[in-house]
Amino acid sequence: MHNHIFEKYPAKDKSQLIPLLQDVQAIYGYLPELALQEIADYVGLPLSRVYGVATFYNQFRLTPLGENIIRVCRGTACHVKNSANILYALESALKIKAGETTRDRKFTIEIVACIGACSIAPVMTVNDDYHGRLTVKDVPTILKKYQTTTKPKASAEPEVKLA
Ligand code: FES
Repeated sequence: MHNHIFEKYPAKDKSQLIPLLQDVQAIYGYLPELALQEIADYVGLPLSRVYGVATFYNQFRLTPLGENIIRVCRGTACHVKNSANILYALESALKIKAGETTRDRKFTIEIVACIGACSIAPVMTVNDDYHGRLTVKDVPTILKKYQTTTKPKASAEPEVKLA
């Protein structure tokens, strides 16, 4: 199914592991478990090793992203304006921690460094929208807005067969 990815790389070449992980993640937005196994077989490494690499690097995700990606800025300007409280309010409302996705896959929370909007700190983005000068009181209203909007899915749940 994904021969077009594999054929770019020589088989049984361990040095191709990271580019392969990047290419597969570019398709799905994360690394499905079956994909990790297929990659492990292709490069000739044990699954545990491939899993270790995928969890070591921040660029790789092992779970799908939510329909709405919330990025909470924790840069200096936002930090001094209590962005930690915004993050706690989000985590508490959605019952997930930063880096996680809600069970209904509506929301993912991520922490980012300065997103270039320090003048309206504290800031978070939801998808492409900026929300600035936030207080914890704003959080429920903002979540409600995105809770009720349905975005088209970036990719369907994959049926992964890489080789
Ligand atoms: S520090 Fe948050 S936008 Fe710059």
